Amino acid sequence: MRRDTMTPDNRSPGPPVSVLVAGLGNLGGVILELLAREPGVGRLVAASRDEARGVARVNLARLGALAQGRAPDVTFAPLDITDAGGVGDLLRREAPDVVVVTASLETWWLPDLLPAEARAPLARAGFGAWLPVHLALPLAFMRAASAAGFRGHVLTAPFPDVVNCVLGRVGVAPACGVGNLDEIVPKVRHLAADRLGAPIDEIDVTLVAHHALERITFGATPPGELPPHFLRVARGGRDVTREVDAEALLRAPYPLAWGPVMHFLTAGSTVRLVGALASETPVRLHAPGPAGLPGGYPVLASRAGVTLAPIEGLTRDEAVAINERSHRFDGIARVEADGTTVLVDETAAVLRETLGYDGARVAPDEAALMARDLLARFREYAARHGVDVARARRMGA
Ligand SMILES: NC(=O)c1ccc[n+]([C@@H]2O[C@H](COP(=O)([O-])OP(=O)(O)OC[C@H]3O[C@@H](n4cnc5c(N)ncnc54)[C@H](OP(=O)(O)O)[C@@H]3O)[C@@H](O)[C@H]2O)c1
Repeated sequence: MRRDTMTPDNRSPGPPVSVLVAGLGNLGGVILELLAREPGVGRLVAASRDEARGVARVNLARLGALAQGRAPDVTFAPLDITDAGGVGDLLRREAPDVVVVTASLETWWLPDLLPAEARAPLARAGFGAWLPVHLALPLAFMRAASAAGFRGHVLTAPFPDVVNCVLGRVGVAPACGVGNLDEIVPKVRHLAADRLGAPIDEIDVTLVAHHALERITFGATPPGELPPHFLRVARGGRDVTREVDAEALLRAPYPLAWGPVMHFLTAGSTVRLVGALASETPVRLHAPGPAGLPGGYPVLASRAGVTLAPIEGLTRDEAVAINERSHRFDGIARVEADGTTVLVDETAAVLRETLGYDGARVAPDEAALMARDLLARFREYAARHGVDVARARRMGA
């Protein structure tokens, strides 16, 4: 593997990219803050439904960047992703090079607020239980973007390891997702460098892994069988996977601030990816859900787009098979040819028993309706266990 495609330091920056952040909740806000301070970013538009909150967020990002010595061209635009015409108009008007979709019907960290006995069954169900909540808006956005003939690169945040796979099945795959396995890679790099006493710049990690691996890697799910994955660590091009005991590094305790504050980690991954999309030459990094594939992979990103990076000793089909087999660790049995997603029996049973919700099969067109039902039942469940979801959201956002 050549070192010159391995680190962002080797990118050859072209002109600055213009970026639209679609969805201005907690993650969108953090991504906006970092992008506003990024030299490779040109025009920056933040779009969401709540105009007053959105304008205030944009003003904060502008002043923060100015305070830091940068003067970003950043504005707010109203956007309701369920209005396909409005999405098309915005994309035609702004013509961004890159869109980062962070809009979602609900955030991911609320179940973690429940008391242990109420949280445990939902954790056992896997994150796939919440698929409709994370699927509905990226699906609406990608359909609207496709209808408008949008040609820019779209990056998605909501559960891309599965959502992008569904989007691919219905013919509207985004370029790739952000975060997830790209949040595990820095942990392994850091620990490997420590173990070898090597400068971190010399350490390269190659990982094929699904979202399901991340919670275990950071201790949020009790240790158990790890989802299938492929992991290689190299130092200056030499394979040191065994020397550093890379598998142990995955499981090694690594206390991490949990909850919305983790969005700084996701945003770091996103900003690097956006920077790579400004590069004339390919930059090797990791991303979930490229080209509608399940799980995450090493990818090559440049102004031309995102492609899978070749992995020595592992074919593309083998890599995809690893992530197909990992779906079930997130409660997903399979994604069918028309994008209908089938939950594993245990996940469907937990949802029935805890929330009284029946949703073993998620057809893409029913995701929005199912999400509304699922969220209403979750709010009741949370209230029964002493958690006021609306209040918790206000505190976290
Ligand atoms: N890939 C990763 O590594 C990673 C990491 C963290 C989070 N995530 C995912 O990222 C997503 C966002 O997380 P979050 O914590 O930022 O959630 P959040 O705080 O709830 O933000 C979601 C935002 O979506 C916007 N939205 C909702 N409906 C909309 C619509 N119809 N049109 C336009 N915008 C709409 C809302 O803003 P308005 O009310 O202003 O419209 C809301 O604030 C979730 O799916 C989460 O699971 C992924």
